[in-house]
Amino acid sequence: MTNRTAEAAGPSRPAPDTGASRPVVLLRDVRLAYGSHVVLDEISFSVRRGETMCVLGGSGVGKSTILKLVLHLDEPDSGHVEVLGHDIGRAGRHEVFEVRQRMGMVFQGSALFDSLPIFDNVAFPLLEHTELPLGEITRRVREVLSFVDLDYRRVERLLPSELSGGMKKRVAIARAIVHRPEILLFDEPTSGLDPITTRTIDSLIIKLRRELHVSSIVVTHDTRSACRIANRIALLQGGRIIFMGTPDEMLAAEDSYIRDYLE
Ligand SMILES: Nc1ncnc2c1ncn2[C@@H]1O[C@H](COP(=O)(O)OP(=O)(O)O)[C@@H](O)[C@H]1O
Ligand SMILES: [Mg+2]
Repeated sequence: MTNRTAEAAGPSRPAPDTGASRPVVLLRDVRLAYGSHVVLDEISFSVRRGETMCVLGGSGVGKSTILKLVLHLDEPDSGHVEVLGHDIGRAGRHEVFEVRQRMGMVFQGSALFDSLPIFDNVAFPLLEHTELPLGEITRRVREVLSFVDLDYRRVERLLPSELSGGMKKRVAIARAIVHRPEILLFDEPTSGLDPITTRTIDSLIIKLRRELHVSSIVVTHDTRSACRIANRIALLQGGRIIFMGTPDEMLAAEDSYIRDYLE
């Protein structure tokens, strides 16, 4: 039976497989070493559509490396990385580019262009990769600045150096969503922020899931933030995922490794 006839048969029939239930990101048996230093040792996990997955772990455990693999900025020694149904290791350059266009990245430390005003920073992905007319770009930039609770009239002509750390992080998030990605990747989004600003960024990450329905991977060493924002948490230690589950399950876990990490 084709999809067309299945649809015509009405809503009581099972929905055709549109791929909506497949994970948006899948790492299978991923191993990566730098020389003799094994960073990721047979890691497997998946991110479901619409969920926020936190990868939690100490410094140097390979959290940023996981994001690099998802963006195909690095390749595993063995195993597979699948993004939006594409086997990213086997994809050609054009396919990798197309998949990257469907992702947004919020870098550690925000990584704004210091010499460009906020407007240009946020418009950058649209100016680089689309042919949208300037009027539409302006409309979208202002829309995403408002979404991250910044007043565009006040900030769009300022330079990054004129903003606080929390505001810069909001601008970085606005830039990451301006091309309407399906997947967002965050590298330590709250590191270096005070507790109150951390909470506002956590709330914004939750708002992205609720209102824009994006799927996210958030890597962090901040257990409190992870527990606030995550649907599921993967705890990374010694090259392996030592725990995978909801925040409540993690906090209730008896396992001594997990308790050690949490303490
Ligand atoms: N290009 C590289 N060459 C050699 N070692 C690297 C490289 N990138 C990362 N590493 C090492 O891999 C480990 C994991 O790095 P990273 O993913 O950045 O950790 P995290 O983000 O969890 O702090 C670290 O020990 C780091 O020194
Ligand atoms: Mg890192």
